[in-house]
Amino acid sequence: MRVLVRVWCPTRWSSSLVTASLAIAAACALPECATAAVPASAGESIYLRGVLGSGAPLAGTRESAGISTQGADAACVNCHQRSGLGSTEGRILIPPITGDYLFHGHVHGGDAPPLPYVESMHGNRSAYTPATLARAIREGVDPEGRTLSSLMPRYALDDADMGALVEYLKGLAVHRVPGVTPSELHFATIFTPDADPVKRRGVLDVLEHYIVEQHRLANRRWQLHVWQLTGPATTWRAQLEHHLQSEPVFAVLSGLAGSNWGPVHEFCEQNAIPCLFPNVEVPVAADGDFYSLYFSKGVLLEAELIGTELARLARDAPHLAVVQVYRAGDSGQAAAHVLTTRLREHGLSVRDQILTAGGASGRGVAAALREAGKANALVLWLRPDDIAALGSPPAVAHVYLSGLMGGLEVIPLPASWRRVARLAYPVDTPDHRGAQLNYPLGWFSFRKIPIVAAQVQVDTYLACSLMTEVSSHLADSYVRPYLIEQLQGMVEHHLVTGYYPHLTLGYRQQFASKGGYIARLTEEHGTVQVVADSDWIVP
Ligand code: HEC
Repeated sequence: MRVLVRVWCPTRWSSSLVTASLAIAAACALPECATAAVPASAGESIYLRGVLGSGAPLAGTRESAGISTQGADAACVNCHQRSGLGSTEGRILIPPITGDYLFHGHVHGGDAPPLPYVESMHGNRSAYTPATLARAIREGVDPEGRTLSSLMPRYALDDADMGALVEYLKGLAVHRVPGVTPSELHFATIFTPDADPVKRRGVLDVLEHYIVEQHRLANRRWQLHVWQLTGPATTWRAQLEHHLQSEPVFAVLSGLAGSNWGPVHEFCEQNAIPCLFPNVEVPVAADGDFYSLYFSKGVLLEAELIGTELARLARDAPHLAVVQVYRAGDSGQAAAHVLTTRLREHGLSVRDQILTAGGASGRGVAAALREAGKANALVLWLRPDDIAALGSPPAVAHVYLSGLMGGLEVIPLPASWRRVARLAYPVDTPDHRGAQLNYPLGWFSFRKIPIVAAQVQVDTYLACSLMTEVSSHLADSYVRPYLIEQLQGMVEHHLVTGYYPHLTLGYRQQFASKGGYIARLTEEHGTVQVVADSDWIVP
């Protein structure tokens, strides 16, 4: 077993990759030093998770305030951010603490990229040494002998943990980032093989036009690489790694999936590549993931909306029995799974009627509905072809459909279903979104971009315009985690929100639009309209 051993001395730092047995020898060779073997990730786990090398929780105290914090709450990331570049919250300035700021560039050679200008940086102090840095973290005193504000907790770390933490801070230094050159900024956009070809063309049209304009406007020319995945999902990871090797990119921008985006999400998280707002119905919602941002939780959000609604109905009708219908392998399968879990928590009974994957339109739907006739709530995770072939509605009190899968306001729901059916609708209703769409739609029309799938095309435009805006916040510091942090701070101020009423991304949030409506279809003067049947619900 190989472990990374940090040897901490008051006067010097060293680190070496040695085998466990050598670690003991190394410790013995330096008798004047307090030494201990700490796993290589100890610094990271202190910084990100508040867990010490021993597995015990990190403890921080803010003495003057009489407060102590522990574990994840005490972790440095809460204030200094994933990038280590700190933040400003109103009048509170949290300084950058990556190695290059603390040690003032002494660690880097001449070709190191410039340090990002960070408003909160401490300009008026001399460089830290390992010993003064340890003192700052333990006692809150900077190299000038100035006491740091009580907002910065004090941490009684032992030498081994301190050594690991400082190595980690050094590693956070601003490096040359792949995909960024003095004149170019490289992006990938990713399409899975099962992505709808019409939407794919629509997304690509928007991206290609946008990128060409950035050639003229931005100080770095944007370059787009289209990563088209092929074959079964088990092979995507290798394809992605291969693409990344031959075409290094700074970030993944937009893209389109069928029902599975999981391997792409994992690839981005594990390679620490920002993955900005892909068009996916089934995103990955994993606590602690950082690099993947989505506009919405897609059909998983719809499942939560329907779940909230059914749980409310069940208060008056506790024996509510729910049947869900979906095609095997389609996005509805993941949504149905979320809804089932949610309904079972409320003690409701749920059964699934699963249609064969990719069957002819409408095939099996009638039989599934006959089964559903015995239930009193029906949830249909179906595509337009199956919806158009629904026939007449069974005698079920409550019917819900996925708005996203059904095509939003152009859902081909037979007239006889409209009275009873409700849609999960995780975007603004058409009558509300008008002004928000004027700008992107005008942009498309001016460039003669055909509108083939308005929602994904507007979302793609929105992803690009957010990237443009965040570039100006980054100034010249193309640091990947910093990109995500800056987006989290600015999304809510972006003027265009497209199909969504509001976008916000707080600390540790992955999904910018958090709610939706339960909507119904009405017909007036021969025109079918979607109207909200609920307030905006945030499940
Ligand atoms: C609750 C928020 C918070 C947490 C958690 C936190 N810090 Fe700080 N830290 C601050 C603030 C605020 C300052 C600025 C203090 C000042 O300027 O007086 C600061 C300053 C510092 C400085 C001095 C930087 C300089 O340029 O002089 C270092 C070093 C530092 N923190 C390291 C850490 C480490 C390492 C951790 C985790 C073990 C940590 N901090 C956790 C808020 C925090």
